[in-house]
Amino acid sequence: MVGCARSCDRDGVSGASPARRGEPRLAAGRARALGLATRGTTNPNRLRRVDRWIVGTQAARLRGVSAPLVVDLGYGSSPVTTVELFERLERVAPGVRVVGLEIDRERVAAAEPAARPPGLAFARGGFELAGLRPVLVRAMNVLRQYETPAVGPAWASILDRIAGGGLLVEGTCDEIGRRACWFAIDRPPGESGQPGTSLFTSTFTSTFTSTRPWPWPGTPTLTLAAHLPSLGRPSELAERLPKALIARNVPGDDVYALLSAFDDAWTRMAPRAVFGPRQRWVAAVESLRADGWPVRGNRRRWRLGEVTVAWPPTPTPTPASRDVPAAGG
Ligand SMILES: C[S@@+](CC[C@H](N)C(=O)[O-])C[C@H]1O[C@@H](n2cnc3c(N)ncnc32)[C@H](O)[C@@H]1O
Repeated sequence: MVGCARSCDRDGVSGASPARRGEPRLAAGRARALGLATRGTTNPNRLRRVDRWIVGTQAARLRGVSAPLVVDLGYGSSPVTTVELFERLERVAPGVRVVGLEIDRERVAAAEPAARPPGLAFARGGFELAGLRPVLVRAMNVLRQYETPAVGPAWASILDRIAGGGLLVEGTCDEIGRRACWFAIDRPPGESGQPGTSLFTSTFTSTFTSTRPWPWPGTPTLTLAAHLPSLGRPSELAERLPKALIARNVPGDDVYALLSAFDDAWTRMAPRAVFGPRQRWVAAVESLRADGWPVRGNRRRWRLGEVTVAWPPTPTPTPASRDVPAAGG
């Protein structure tokens, strides 16, 4: 299922012969790359929120290894966001190397003039990471164009290849980067699985984001980030949920409960809006945490219009019953 993008034909693959049942689909070509080329839409600075989070929370992870290697998977029709990632990471992790991987050959060729050896390079590759073993993989707006059942195998393929102690950052954002949501899934230090012998304890299905126990030894988080002046209410972020969650925003599911609770808290904190949307967001996040949501981080991050929650939340907090104070009260 790995290669089943939205452009699939009835056999689940476009422009390639159908794979045998259970086998990952491969893009055609000499160097086999897992996945299929999809639309290459990107924009300068589109990924600033996820990059700010990586820089602000993951610099120690990068500095903790010598010559840290980062992969930007699926950079699109222009390498601009990979260049930006490199420039941002260089400031906090000198010596970092960033490799932009794309499954589309023409996009790799087009990116090559932007390379800055030895720090920044571009190559063809897919979910198999072209044989690299990075400490961090950023894959933004890549899985969005696949079918939901392809997500689990894609995660498994990437996570099995990430270095022990590494991290996968996978999610979605809008075209100009004002709203973004991503999972961060770590690979515990010392885990030394080899490609082909997955560390996943069960086969991922489309319901895996609610599976307990989580079928992976690491501790995932879900981060929601928004440009607050243009945000009406937190649940507007639903449109940009990572692919694994987009169809799960329905009553009874964790992500629906989270967004509903966040909207409720946002409504209750309306009086804080006089101090600006940041104050209101921070107060709403604090309220979520007080209600039992496993919120990570601190006000310094929440002030940026971010919230990070351990995922799946265990157990799902139940809505607190309380009166909504009148605005200004
Ligand atoms: C919508 S663009 C995203 C560009 C950039 N990451 C961004 O967020 O602006 C998605 C890109 O991912 C590429 N892609 C899709 N599946 C891939 C895979 N398995 N491995 C590498 N690239 C892939 C597509 O060819 C496309 O260029």
